[in-house]
Amino acid sequence: MTKLANRTRNLTSFKVVDFLEAAQSLEAQGRDIIHMEIGEPRFETAAPILEAARVAMTEGRTGYTPSCGIPELRQAIADFYAEQYEVAIDARRVIVTTGSSAALGMVCELLLNPGDGLLLADPGYPCNANFVRRLDAEPQLVPVGPDENYQLSAASVEEYWRPNSVAAMVASPSNPTGTVIDQQQLAELYRQVKAQQGILIVDEIYHGLTYSDVPLSSALSVADDLFVINSFSKYFGMTGWRLGWMVVPEPVIDTLTVMAQNFYIASPSIAQYAALAAFQPDTREILEQRRQAFQARRDFLLPALRELGFRIDRVPEGAFYLYADVSTFTDDCEAFCWQLLREHGIACTPGTDFGHHKARQHIRFAYTESLPRLEVAVDRLRRALKG
Ligand SMILES: Cc1ncc(COP(=O)(O)O)c(C=O)c1O
Repeated sequence: MTKLANRTRNLTSFKVVDFLEAAQSLEAQGRDIIHMEIGEPRFETAAPILEAARVAMTEGRTGYTPSCGIPELRQAIADFYAEQYEVAIDARRVIVTTGSSAALGMVCELLLNPGDGLLLADPGYPCNANFVRRLDAEPQLVPVGPDENYQLSAASVEEYWRPNSVAAMVASPSNPTGTVIDQQQLAELYRQVKAQQGILIVDEIYHGLTYSDVPLSSALSVADDLFVINSFSKYFGMTGWRLGWMVVPEPVIDTLTVMAQNFYIASPSIAQYAALAAFQPDTREILEQRRQAFQARRDFLLPALRELGFRIDRVPEGAFYLYADVSTFTDDCEAFCWQLLREHGIACTPGTDFGHHKARQHIRFAYTESLPRLEVAVDRLRRALKG
């Protein structure tokens, strides 16, 4: 038996992928499964982006690119911050990565020594804790619930900060709860982290997918010396293209460039040229229609689930998830999810994927399927809960 490094023992499986694979194998046997597990917009990538990719291929743009991304894309992303959020950033501060997954991993590698701690919300995006464990560092999970809007706050950072803590990471809108940190709370959070001589990392991957009338600001309008992570996966609908980015403080650009050179050489070239079209007005129009479709789905699914007895204390203001308390039905969310999948053809994700805090009494529904399919899902759930 091959002897593996100790740290591999601490990695936890990404349960949503276990459920996706099980759902796919049931589909291969002819079953109809409604996918509410994986966080993937079920829209094809917008036509202008596909067309830009075709042009890039025809022009033979298939080689390695500069490690931090093609200059046009870095500039387009910087322009996007100016237009969308009215924050001016130098394009050199934009580092293009192979999905935001690579950005999250690299930020952890940049900041954490073995034994250092990173504060994370529990529940939160499961891979973050594993990025930390991969470095023999310590994920420091802060329990958050509806009273905290499922987010870290200045108060919780003060309470949970330990002598080995070096940074705190938040996602707004969050996965799995869709809750948002408003600008004032973000500013307070930033100040608290700074007061501890720490660093704030803000994952803005679900930006663009928000449903309130108040436009969301980027954390970059709070300060320059924090890290912002983003991606073409969710709002821009490009999950499989594996393209993300981070905006970083000026002094760390060179170190991150060396890391990008070594760790992945460059992000996919065709994806980068295609992504240039993501910011065009015709693409943004398509993305806005999709955002509205997500909002309509949330507005259908939230009351429908509540009526069935799922408890959802906070109306999610963004992303495409509903994080539901299922304690009236079960005390074992994993068994509950397996039963929904195998017996009723509904794939969803157990709360235990997102941490420990009250995890066994929650499940996450993604509303990435169409409205008619969500209606079928609600019918199936009704039957499942009766039977
Ligand atoms: C909060 C959050 N961050 C980052 C990611 C990683 O996405 P990607 O690597 O596709 O950019 C995800 C994926 O679901 C996510 O939910």
